[in-house]
Amino acid sequence: MDLDLLAALRTPDGETALATAAKLTDGDPLLAAATLRAAGVPAGLAAAALTQAELRRRAVGKFGPDAAGMYFTRAGLEQATRGPVAARRAARLRAAGVRTMVDVGCGLGADAIAAARTGIRVYGVEADPLTAAMAAANAEATGVADRFTVTTGDATRFDVTQFDVTRFGATRFGGDPVDAVFCDPARRRAGTGRRVFDPAAYSPPWDFLLGLAERVPRTVFKVAPGIDHAVLPAGAEAEWVSVDGDLVEAAVWCGPLADVPRRATVLAGPVAHDLTGPGTGRAPVGPVRRYLYDPDGAVVRSHLVAQFADTVDGTLADPEIAYVYADRAVPTPYARCLEVVDVLPFSLKRLRALLRDRAVGRVEILKRGSALEPERLRRDLRLSGPESASLVLTRVADAPTVLLCHPVR
Ligand SMILES: C[S@@+](CC[C@H](N)C(=O)[O-])C[C@H]1O[C@@H](n2cnc3c(N)ncnc32)[C@H](O)[C@@H]1O
Repeated sequence: MDLDLLAALRTPDGETALATAAKLTDGDPLLAAATLRAAGVPAGLAAAALTQAELRRRAVGKFGPDAAGMYFTRAGLEQATRGPVAARRAARLRAAGVRTMVDVGCGLGADAIAAARTGIRVYGVEADPLTAAMAAANAEATGVADRFTVTTGDATRFDVTQFDVTRFGATRFGGDPVDAVFCDPARRRAGTGRRVFDPAAYSPPWDFLLGLAERVPRTVFKVAPGIDHAVLPAGAEAEWVSVDGDLVEAAVWCGPLADVPRRATVLAGPVAHDLTGPGTGRAPVGPVRRYLYDPDGAVVRSHLVAQFADTVDGTLADPEIAYVYADRAVPTPYARCLEVVDVLPFSLKRLRALLRDRAVGRVEILKRGSALEPERLRRDLRLSGPESASLVLTRVADAPTVLLCHPVR
């Protein structure tokens, strides 16, 4: 896909090709291409329409019904923020009084569109010309082109915090400072697409992000969920977000946008739950108890396990392992709860005998603090029987231990 093909897709002929392609993407791709070609669609446009149709279908999970009219690159879709996460962040920015915002490296525009929908005027800067053109097309497709404009360029080469905000749509730099800056840096190496873990290798890089926060106090940037807490700027709030149990991102809220040192946001369907705290506490340690709580990834990564343990009167069985044990099963959005039926020091022979005894033929395997490979263990257990169970591989007082459990519904 290139800029010419994107322009061609946006003509009436291109839109007809896209509409036809959308009906064909379920079937054989060669047959779909042949059908478009037989309808007189040039080969390049046919291929681009089929790719867009496939990406639009895949994008529904992140963008919902908007996906049907938007434009995507494969890399841009992979990196785009999920709709509910972007909408929640945008609502928080708006509630904090943000009226104008620069989105540095706006990608295909997921975050910018969500912000524009709350009424924030967004100036996107995007280094990749095709991605920038798609972001502009996506602003039109989602009906926010009057509040979200895109400039193509390398954000590190000019002062992105100084847009000409006196006239909306202007891309001249050197005007009034904007209220806020958002940056979701690329965290994949150009060319290979491999993830980068060192913030210095983000694009734009870490130093640039910290510099933004110095110039515009209301700065928010996204980081990898595995970020080392030690590199987070002092006084900022770091928030980890999970959606339906999957840890999807972390964001750093700077200046007056910071409410608390650490926040775990757990989105379950349309409902959001927030656990907050200093991220430094340690949960008390005790024995294995009747119920085991497996905290959500957002709780673990935000170092809020002690806060969570407090909500269920829980303790850890090993100070380094984030399983929380308690006497009661309490409904909580922050963890899965399992009832512990058996506790045994890890021994393959003993575990196999126990599972045979209990007629367990199916297991899910959870682990923290164990080097065992779950799939290999599953094979080695040679399971058979009608029952199912959860096996938790962990350490208790530093000893390799296996817990036989049942999920609490
Ligand atoms: C993770 S994506 C942004 C995704 C976006 N937040 C969304 O949800 O759709 C990062 C984007 O930053 C762009 N980028 C990287 N370095 C840049 C730079 N120095 N200036 C402008 N854009 C840059 C990349 O081309 C990429 O599209």
